[in-house]
Amino acid sequence: MKRFLFLLSFITLLFAQSSIGAVLPTTNEPDSVYLFSYATAKNSNTNGLHFAWSTDEKNWTSIGPEMRFLFCDYGRWGVEKRMITPYLFLDSNKTWHCVWSLNEHTGTFAHAESKDLIYWYPQTYPIIMTDNNCQEPEIEKLSEEKYAVSWISTSGNQKKAFRVVTSDFKTYTPTQEMQLNDRMNARKRVAISGNQEYGTVHKVAWSLLESLLNKQKLNAYRDQQWGETTKTDSLRFGSLKTLNATVTVDNSKTKKISDMMIGVFFEDINYAADGGLYAELLQNRDFEYALSDKEGRDKTWNSKKAWHVAGKGAELSIDSISPIHPNNPHFAVLKITEVGSGLVNEGFDGIAIKAGDKYDFSLFAGNPDQKNKKLLIRLIGKNGENYGETSVSVNSSRWKKYNAVLVASQTATDATLEVIPQSSGTVKLDMISLFPQKTFKGRKNGLRVDLAQIVADIQPRFIRFPGGCVAHGDGIDNIYHWKNTVGPIESRKPQKNLWGYHQTVGLGYFEYFQYCEDIGAAPLPVIAAGVPCQNSATGGAGQQGGIPMCDMDDYVQEVLDLIEWANGDVTTKWGKVRADAGHPKPFNLKYVGIGNEDLINDIFEERFTMIFNAVKEKHPEITVIGTVGPSFEGTDYVEGWKIATKLGVPMVDEHYYQTPGWFIHNQDSYDKYDRSKPKVYLGEYASHLPGRVTNIETALSEALYLTACERNGDVVSMTSYAPLLAKEGHTQWNPDLIYFNNSEVKPTVDYFVQQLYGQNSGDTYLASDVRISDKTEAVQKRVAVSTVHDSKTGDLIVKLVNMLPVAVNTNVTLKDIGDINPLALRTILTGLPTDKKARPVTDQISVSGGFPYTMQAYSFTVIRIKKKQ
Ligand code: AHR
Repeated sequence: MKRFLFLLSFITLLFAQSSIGAVLPTTNEPDSVYLFSYATAKNSNTNGLHFAWSTDEKNWTSIGPEMRFLFCDYGRWGVEKRMITPYLFLDSNKTWHCVWSLNEHTGTFAHAESKDLIYWYPQTYPIIMTDNNCQEPEIEKLSEEKYAVSWISTSGNQKKAFRVVTSDFKTYTPTQEMQLNDRMNARKRVAISGNQEYGTVHKVAWSLLESLLNKQKLNAYRDQQWGETTKTDSLRFGSLKTLNATVTVDNSKTKKISDMMIGVFFEDINYAADGGLYAELLQNRDFEYALSDKEGRDKTWNSKKAWHVAGKGAELSIDSISPIHPNNPHFAVLKITEVGSGLVNEGFDGIAIKAGDKYDFSLFAGNPDQKNKKLLIRLIGKNGENYGETSVSVNSSRWKKYNAVLVASQTATDATLEVIPQSSGTVKLDMISLFPQKTFKGRKNGLRVDLAQIVADIQPRFIRFPGGCVAHGDGIDNIYHWKNTVGPIESRKPQKNLWGYHQTVGLGYFEYFQYCEDIGAAPLPVIAAGVPCQNSATGGAGQQGGIPMCDMDDYVQEVLDLIEWANGDVTTKWGKVRADAGHPKPFNLKYVGIGNEDLINDIFEERFTMIFNAVKEKHPEITVIGTVGPSFEGTDYVEGWKIATKLGVPMVDEHYYQTPGWFIHNQDSYDKYDRSKPKVYLGEYASHLPGRVTNIETALSEALYLTACERNGDVVSMTSYAPLLAKEGHTQWNPDLIYFNNSEVKPTVDYFVQQLYGQNSGDTYLASDVRISDKTEAVQKRVAVSTVHDSKTGDLIVKLVNMLPVAVNTNVTLKDIGDINPLALRTILTGLPTDKKARPVTDQISVSGGFPYTMQAYSFTVIRIKKKQ
């Protein structure tokens, strides 16, 4: 908020001096004006609250035009977030209230309040009708501090009016029917730019209008500034020639910074887990895919997905009586009438195999007809080629696990796997699995080597998992419960993935922790704060739900159990579970995230506080990371920070997906942070151009911004780009750091910025004085330097970012630096702004206490200097 106020006063000052269009004080301004508040039906009513003003109640000028002053945050993106017929009201305490209808069917109105019509406090959605809708809500003052909210419910041709009474807009009396005629119907129709709009008119002070107009100007200015792209660099920097600069790194001006700065955020989005990092090659191995995973939209998305029968003599059915485990209720029943027919799995867009490599096949099976059955297992090519076979013999009617090894005779990306019973009869099958033996570090139930390795190459200091939105889920029933994801894979509880597919949780908490350990990264699990994703569609739009208070103690215990599972010794209940899974040594968990981009309201606060206090009391050694919404500003951000500061939460998780211009113009965000407040984990960020494109331009804007994070490494403790992985053809979100298919890994240019920072991080920051020959702000903001010292290696690392279209001839002075090795490693990432294929190039350069260095146009350089011992 402070940052925002600062920006506001700065911009106001700027307007006063510039021709951008200041709202200058006039001598004959009216004392008051009419303010009209309304919403339009555009974009399915999702454009939010607008204002127009008039001096005569006849001629109206809209602000913006149609600038959004309040946005409905109810329900899921794309189908909800609607504001219909808003009604604005000023109460006796000079607080503005806005109520509106959300849709045509829900018995809920939305409420938000504001002191200035600019900052709005958290929205609430009181459920006031269980069986009917809530249309055109309006507020009436009954007496001092007593108000009625009334609305119309429609059913067929029938219209009825109802009302509730409140004094605080938090608690309401039970719903009562009222006479339709007793409603005020105070909305008016007003013509704005030729359109009839429907809303409320208020007489307000001129100063209020002025502040709304200033807010609009500020937004327009920000949009223009943050829309800066290199596309217009020829205009912006047309006359610019090669620049000169001095960079003086001062070893006497240092500060300790976080040594956890660069990490990664793994979420099962874009098929990042199943079909991605998790090396399982068969899709729907457990026959648990369900129509509900895709909310019934895809009729083929059921227990048989990715399976089909081959041959005429096989019949596949799905059963759920006496499964292997109640968490995995469905299994296949294969009836063979003609030997040679069988069951085929398509993998995830085919199965990628490598000639000579070995694959672990396993399945659970039983023969209800009690006849022993040999099952032939074959890898098959597109044209029926046999790429390798093995067999297992099913010799029990009870569920039993069978294992075999397949050796691939060919390299292919589109193989399928066949299970062909060698005699007729019935066999039940489940957990049919195929893993390459070559998993990352050879782990069983392990990870795909190339993907695991490219992430490891960033040298991340931590991994945040399992989400993102996946962590808090679509409605409370979809919250990710860590206990469902550990133990034998056949006992884990798969579930719908909020991103519209299925998660087997084969890649579960054990595998996440193991991976962290394998690459030397700290685990950072994120636990839902007792509330589901704020964009949930289920559970009364989910977001205002929350785990019922009567179940919250159990939920808090689940969080405490996680810490015991990770860190407890083998004599503890949960430490033993970990040990039984093959890891007697504790995992050394230090961080726990609570919440993700939640709607920050009373429901959140109550639950978050319970969890936070319990962890703090039982495990003061754990750093809890709170949440402050999905943006760098707005209600969730402001309220999230308030709660975190009040409770003394050690760190909060900030998220922002923005334009390169935003990153260029906000490099000073953390310079101004209040150091007494919680530390910052920048848990999700990415720079993207229109169309969500990434390239050298976005990568350099991130490199620029990360110099600011290092400079503020005393408050910014951790950062992670998001999302990490995306499978081609299955991408729900762009941009991502690394794209892949079944056989290739395709890092973006942005990936190499992460890698260069990860591989070249330090724990002490050295102040640099940067002087550029051109003093214009646009030029100054495009060049940044950050120097860190890494105490582990003793190396000094200078990072230089030049986002200008011209080179900068620089004289680098290393002051008080002591003896250094004259040969340093230099890595450059450079290219045209639109370049998506640029790769870092490393060589050696000569350095000394002072040395010349040319920063190429559009480049990021890392110079790693060895100190002499
Ligand atoms: O990173 C993708 C998504 O973005 C995350 O799941 C969520 O936290 C954010 O909205």
